[in-house]
Amino acid sequence: MKKKLIAGNWKMNGSLSANKTLVDALLAGSRNAQCLVAVCVPAPYLAQVQQLVDGSVIALGGQDVSQHDLGAFTGEFSAAMLKDFGVRYCLVGHSERRQYHGETDQVVAAKAQRALAAGITPVVCVGETLAEREAGHTEEVVKRQLAAVIHANGHCISEIVVAYEPVWAIGTGKTASVEQAQQVHAVLRGQLRAATAQADRVHILYGGSMNAGNAAQLLAQPDIDGGLVGGAALKPADFLAIIAAAQ
Ligand code: PGA
Repeated sequence: MKKKLIAGNWKMNGSLSANKTLVDALLAGSRNAQCLVAVCVPAPYLAQVQQLVDGSVIALGGQDVSQHDLGAFTGEFSAAMLKDFGVRYCLVGHSERRQYHGETDQVVAAKAQRALAAGITPVVCVGETLAEREAGHTEEVVKRQLAAVIHANGHCISEIVVAYEPVWAIGTGKTASVEQAQQVHAVLRGQLRAATAQADRVHILYGGSMNAGNAAQLLAQPDIDGGLVGGAALKPADFLAIIAAAQ
């Protein structure tokens, strides 16, 4: 069985001193981690956190990447730039990017492509809004979001990570029930199986108010291969408890 992957998404939080305190605590507590661990940090802190986690079990992650290679795109940064700082994973299509920055399925697919080409594992985020769930469109939405990425990256689709994050569960304290989460994960696994013989290698993470209390149950589901953790990733004790639940 593959190791689970627990990735922290710090979002727009942190400072030089807060990052050091947080990472030092994570390093001290995760030395014997049996799962894969990553922290996705704000871009200005990549160099700092790269040094802090160097040689440890904690991999460095970014939160976004440009869909372009290089050039006149003020404010953006490329996959090659992330690679320069030892980035191993990069979130693409987080719901906050889709919602506040108008990222379409096609833009997300292009970002995944750039990451893969640079040797970075894209963590492709998919998930439905509350309105979409209530209208019975959950499967259709997540399948459409993943289909765009499969279409653009067919030959190396087994190299991605997928994160199912129901938008209504992000930062709200409302977690999808284990049944709701597993059901969507199974749908995504089925879609990957139709695209590649290697679908079982792909990590499908759950995200959305994962915490120390609910992680073990979620991670016990057959198609939940890890977690993408926001709020709880900023609290060392909570993040370490989730790592411990993923053994
Ligand atoms: P949350 O965020 O754990 O705070 O709900 C998860 C995410 O947005 O990645």
